[in-house]
Amino acid sequence: MESPRIGIIGGSGLYRMEGLTELQELHLDTPYGPCSDALMQGLLGGVPVVFLARHGRSHHLIPSQVPFRANLHALKQLGVQYVLSVSAVGSLREEMAPLDLVLPDQFIDMTRLRPGSFFGDGAVAHVSLADPLCPVLRQTVAQAWADLNDSAVRLHEGGTYVCIEGPAFSTRAESHWYRSMGASIIGMTNMPEARLAREAEIAYATLALVTDWDCWRANQACVTAEMAIANLQQNAQRAQTLVTQVVKRLAQRWPASPAHTALSSALVTPPAAMP
Ligand code: ADE
Repeated sequence: MESPRIGIIGGSGLYRMEGLTELQELHLDTPYGPCSDALMQGLLGGVPVVFLARHGRSHHLIPSQVPFRANLHALKQLGVQYVLSVSAVGSLREEMAPLDLVLPDQFIDMTRLRPGSFFGDGAVAHVSLADPLCPVLRQTVAQAWADLNDSAVRLHEGGTYVCIEGPAFSTRAESHWYRSMGASIIGMTNMPEARLAREAEIAYATLALVTDWDCWRANQACVTAEMAIANLQQNAQRAQTLVTQVVKRLAQRWPASPAHTALSSALVTPPAAMP
């Protein structure tokens, strides 16, 4: 099988990819230790892809324990150029209801306990993160959504994803504060993943599945893990269908992304560890 150019990272509730054929389980060594779980390489709609369950297939890792650097390093070793992150999020906006889909275009990173860069230890670079989510990959997802013509739920193009450390959900005061900052959705995992993808020159986009209203909304049940997983599962099939369509579209022309040359103007001292 050709090496996969597309990686799919599944978050809470998305531990396997339906429709993968010719499945091979890979265990790669990285300078950062093992990945969250085995990398599942196979064909999706006839296109080589690799799937990784971010929290492990049995969901044994809290967000602070996800080995983000190992995961991105392993995907890069396999030749991945595009990563689609499929992730459960809470909504911080009236117009983004549970079961809606969001294609965010910005992040606010509130994480505190995670190694956030491949650089350091003598290797120095400053990549641009002004547009942390790849516009080309986001556009491909939006087009794939239009192809499917699914009017049952809405896809919101654009929005700011605030990433918290977790594993606890936010306080009400925090939830209101994130809203006042302009955040639209809230999750626990897409940072530093997106930043590491950029440093690895991998185009990265998030398909966010809204599962709850967090805890800012009056007269509304506050988020629970049970609620988030149940709503995620209601949308998992839809997400898998959309991902398959995205993969087919990408394989039609393998579009160039600004992320693919992110280091060309960023490197000060090159790293020894990246493949
Ligand atoms: N993932 C799903 N819902 C969430 C929420 N409300 N806060 C943080 N992460 C989430």
